[in-house]
Amino acid sequence: MTVFIGGAWPYANGSLHIGHIASLLSGDILARYFRLKGEEVLYVSGSDCHGTPIAIRANQENRSPKEITDYFHDEFKSCFQQLGFSYDLYSRTDQEHHHQVVQDLFLQLYENGLIYKREVKQTFCEQCHQFLPDRYVEGICPNCGNGARGDQCEHCSAILDPLELQDKHCKLCGNRPVERNTDHLYFALSKFQGSLEAYLTEAKHWRDNAVQLTARYLKEGLQDRAVTRDLQWGINVPIAGFENKKIYVWIDAVCGYLSASKQWAERNGGNWQQFWSREVTAYYVQGKDNIPFHSIIWPAILLGADGGLHLPDRILSNEYLTIEGKKISTSRNWAVWVPYLLEHYSADSIRYFLTINAPEKRDTDFSWREFINSHNGELLGAFGNFVQRTLKFVEKFFQAQVPLSTIDPTKRQQIDQLYEEVGVKIEAGECKPALEQLFSFIRSANKYFDEQKPWQQVNQEPEQCAQTIFTCVQIIANLSNLASPFLPFTCEKIRANLGIAAPGWNYLEIDPLKTIEPLALLFEPIDKGRIEEEVRKLQT
Ligand code: MF3
Ligand code: ZN
Repeated sequence: MTVFIGGAWPYANGSLHIGHIASLLSGDILARYFRLKGEEVLYVSGSDCHGTPIAIRANQENRSPKEITDYFHDEFKSCFQQLGFSYDLYSRTDQEHHHQVVQDLFLQLYENGLIYKREVKQTFCEQCHQFLPDRYVEGICPNCGNGARGDQCEHCSAILDPLELQDKHCKLCGNRPVERNTDHLYFALSKFQGSLEAYLTEAKHWRDNAVQLTARYLKEGLQDRAVTRDLQWGINVPIAGFENKKIYVWIDAVCGYLSASKQWAERNGGNWQQFWSREVTAYYVQGKDNIPFHSIIWPAILLGADGGLHLPDRILSNEYLTIEGKKISTSRNWAVWVPYLLEHYSADSIRYFLTINAPEKRDTDFSWREFINSHNGELLGAFGNFVQRTLKFVEKFFQAQVPLSTIDPTKRQQIDQLYEEVGVKIEAGECKPALEQLFSFIRSANKYFDEQKPWQQVNQEPEQCAQTIFTCVQIIANLSNLASPFLPFTCEKIRANLGIAAPGWNYLEIDPLKTIEPLALLFEPIDKGRIEEEVRKLQT
């Protein structure tokens, strides 16, 4: 099996917050899982360095867009690395290599008659003397009647043309813009109506929200969309007469999946075609506001370009994460920032919480109370405790050697079942139920320990005791496989302890009489007083 995984490209115009991680983490779980199974995996992403938000921020801070994107790209890289994101390549869109791949695809579409010139009316601000990029136009959404920006309505997710907005005003000066004529290039999305309808019918394992929203767009009928913008920052349009315009940022960004694959191949002597051919399973992991770009625009580009490139198979579009019951808002600073989180908490605690509470089917909430309680109760209380008590027992009563015995057959069977069932869930993109199943097993392992009472068995039935502890050691060894897509750092510590060279996705047994290394502490308790402190910080 060959697996391509594309994680959405965050805008390099501000730090990552936990909402980003909640929507991207399942990509890393998939990548780690498939690698454990021995599949060929290519997992790529990068920083989205173009577009108006970056230009706006640069303007506000009197810096160049490049300074902004350099800063955040480095920060993203470091955060992803500390969180254990195992990208094969984490790239960026403001690189020559990427520009060339995008221009190349753009020209293919142009030559295939799918991009064409059209003279259009556009919003022009006479006060600011410029054509207004989408996001600079604000008004009322013609679809749902709520306040919206010119590119997309956050309320009903409709993709908008700023001209369609009612009661328009310029974001920069507040004036009512006028309409003027200018040439733009349009992508003939309408020509893909039939092929995308067929594509959606065959779509399996898309998240429900992706199926629903895509079906709605198709039902409304696909409209051709402008793919050039009046900006100074972005990718040049490779067609004469458009020297003052740039390629629309969403066309630019989604092409990153291909450009990063090619760049990865160049750097590693790999074969990018292998991940874009027929036999691939392609996963795309993102937040739900990204759906139409991955379920309509990117497939249309791939269908329209040359070379029979592989379309997305599984669209894993996550719902939103709220914080203490309220929608994340970066402008109002209602956010928990990843650099801060990583300074104070361990990566696996963050990964655990954001997976067990992943917004896979509906919005879920991050609260400091839940976060700290889940660390103390589940990671430390259930998982850490099981490992700790077992290995302590081995140290104390078996001279740090795995007892000479065989595994309890029921436990053996349960472990086999976990490999099977947890695997099926991860492959379906259901990481939350997969981790739930794993932790319910961990709780049952603790119960097994309690019921066997090895501290009594050791005196009364030494053979039984050897089997109990042997079994518990094998459970830990297998958990270091099974949990490693979710909690890679913890599992690495366990492997070091047990002398396991590399993880895999098969039942594994530690030999009797093997000496176990001294125990490293897996999880430190977090003081409950932190809950109040953190909530207070959030509100200031
Ligand atoms: N930058 C976009 C966002 O943060 C995501 C781009 S994903 C890609 O919403 F597919 F376009 F790369
Ligand atoms: Zn203006």
